[in-house]
Amino acid sequence: MQTGSPARTAPKLYEILSKRSPCRGGEAAGIIEMTIHAPRVAAKCHAGQFFMLRVDERGERVPFTFSDWSRDEGWIRFIFMVVGKTTSALAALEVGECVHDLAGPLGKATDVPGTGSVVVVGGGVGTAVAYPVARSLCEAGREVRVIVGARTADLLILIDELDALPLAELRVMTDDGTAGEQGLVTVPLAEMCTGGNAEQAFIVGPAIMMKFAALTAVDAGVPATVSLNPLMVDGTGMCGACRVSVDGVTRFACVDGPDFCAEGVDWDELMSRQRFYLEEERASREHWERAERAGRERLHDRCDCFEQGGESRA
Ligand SMILES: Cc1cc2nc3c(=O)[nH]c(=O)nc-3n(C[C@H](O)[C@H](O)[C@H](O)COP(=O)(O)OP(=O)(O)OC[C@H]3O[C@@H](n4cnc5c(N)ncnc54)[C@H](O)[C@@H]3O)c2cc1C
Ligand code: FES
Repeated sequence: MQTGSPARTAPKLYEILSKRSPCRGGEAAGIIEMTIHAPRVAAKCHAGQFFMLRVDERGERVPFTFSDWSRDEGWIRFIFMVVGKTTSALAALEVGECVHDLAGPLGKATDVPGTGSVVVVGGGVGTAVAYPVARSLCEAGREVRVIVGARTADLLILIDELDALPLAELRVMTDDGTAGEQGLVTVPLAEMCTGGNAEQAFIVGPAIMMKFAALTAVDAGVPATVSLNPLMVDGTGMCGACRVSVDGVTRFACVDGPDFCAEGVDWDELMSRQRFYLEEERASREHWERAERAGRERLHDRCDCFEQGGESRA
C-alpha cells in the first residue's frame, strides 16, 4: 500500500485556480485577480495580447488582457473590474469552478520598436496591461520608467510586482494623494518626456486618460503607442464592433490592435462608441442583480436577458 499525501488531481480545463482582491480596497473596490488553467493559451500568449472569455454557454464573450502567465504550469492570470452583468457573473465564480470557454491569445503583441528609453503609463485597471509590457521591455534590456495612476490608494494594483522589476523609475500618482504623489499621470509624464528620459511612450487606461497622456507625450516630441479598448463582440475581425478610426482609416482593434500609434486615433469617436450601449448594459446588470437576489441556481436561470434578446451589442 502506498503512503504519503495523495497526488493532487490535475486541474480541469478553464478551472479557476486562484481568486483574490489585488488591491488594498479589498472586495469593496470591485477589482479581482483570477488565475485560470489554460495550458494551450498560456503556451502562446505575449504582453499586450488578450483573450475572450464566456462565463457559461449562453453568456456573451468579453475581452480581458493577460496580466501574467506560466507556460510551464499552464495558467493565465488577469485582473478585471466588476462593471456589468458578465463581470458580475465572473466575480461570483469560486476557485475550483470553471468558466465555459476561453479563446486566445488574440490581437497583436505589444511592440515598442528601437532600443531607447521607454515610459510605460498605466491608469486604473490598465495597470494590468502596463505590468507585462514593462516586464517584457525590461527583459529586452530597455531603460524603462513606469507611471501608475489611480483615483485613490485603495484602487492601486501590481505596485509590488512593478517595484520588483529593474525599472529606472516608478512613479505612483493618485487623484486624492492617498498614495504616491497627488495629481494626474500627465505631470510626471511631461517631466520625463521634456527632460529627455523617455524616447517612446506606451499608454493604457481609460480612454480619456489615454487621450491626454498621448497628447502630453506627442506635444513633447515623444511618439506614443496606446492600447485601445473599444467594445468587442467576436474578437476575431468578423463583426466590426471594435472599429476605431486611426489616421482617418477604419481599423479593427481586435485584429489590427489593440495597440495603435496614438497620434492618429479619433478619441471622440472611441469614447462615443464605448457609451453607445450604456442603457442596455445598465438594464442587463439590473436584471442579473434582481435574479441574483432571488437566489436562483444558474446564471441564465437568474437572468431573463436572453429571453429579452438583450445579449448582442454589435
Ligand atoms: C482588448 C481589451 C482588453 C480588456 N482587458 C480588460 C482587463 O484586463 N481588465 C478589465 O477589467 N477590463 C478589460 N477590458 C474591458 C472589459 O472587457 C469590460 O469591462 C467587460 O467587457 C465588461 O463586461 P460586462 O458585461 O461586465 O459589462 P457591460 O454591462 O457590458 O458594460 C458595463 C460598462 O463597462 C464598460 N465596458 C464594456 N465593455 C467594455 C470594453 N470592451 N472595454 C472597455 N469598457 C467596456 C462600459 O463603460 C460599460 O458601460 C478590456 C477590453 C478590451 C477591448
Ligand atoms: S470584435 Fe473586432 S471585429 Fe468583432
